Amino acid sequence: MPNLTYPFTPMPLKYRFNELEPYLNEQVVFTHYEKHYKSYIDKLNNALSTYPQFHRWTLYDLLLNIYQLPWEIQNQVWVSAGGVYNHELYFATMTPNYRPIKDELFQKAVNTYFGSLQGFEELFKRLTSEFVGSGYVSLVANPFGELRLMTTFNQNTSLPYRLFPLLTIDLWEHSYYLQYQNNRKDYVNAWFNLIDWEEVSKRYRQPFFR
Ligand SMILES: [Fe+2]
Repeated sequence: MPNLTYPFTPMPLKYRFNELEPYLNEQVVFTHYEKHYKSYIDKLNNALSTYPQFHRWTLYDLLLNIYQLPWEIQNQVWVSAGGVYNHELYFATMTPNYRPIKDELFQKAVNTYFGSLQGFEELFKRLTSEFVGSGYVSLVANPFGELRLMTTFNQNTSLPYRLFPLLTIDLWEHSYYLQYQNNRKDYVNAWFNLIDWEEVSKRYRQPFFR
């Protein structure tokens, strides 16, 4: 939760580890959340533990003002704060019960910038198939409410570009390898069944950046 401050604590999931099956199995979700996501929380807290002057900074503050931090912790904070932010967005926009778009404003934006939801899906899938390495493909909105797709590597986020992410897919191998091995395409196709469009629409209406 990006508005919280040190010490950061894990965001509770809205679903149990086995509830995203068959698209993502229990072992994948458990490992991803308990091991990978939580390790970013621990690393972020460790990096900031002896720097009380930053204990009132939110995740947004850290990610948007990274160069105000002492160089000794810049890299660790950048990577781990990004890791926390990206994983929270990823986990928060999945749901066991697929929720379609009901929000007219958001639906209109999707139609304007991608032609249709199907147009969005095709383009999004193309970006994931072209992606090489570890990182994320995200649906982002600029301060004018215009939608874009964006690729970010490692644990970078779109925030410093003043692009607010609405939806993201984790393309690090740890997010699918235990179930899909190297079949990233199958993972992406499965993930599309888990998107919580209501949550995505809500983010679109957030006044952040506007
Ligand atoms: Fe991940």
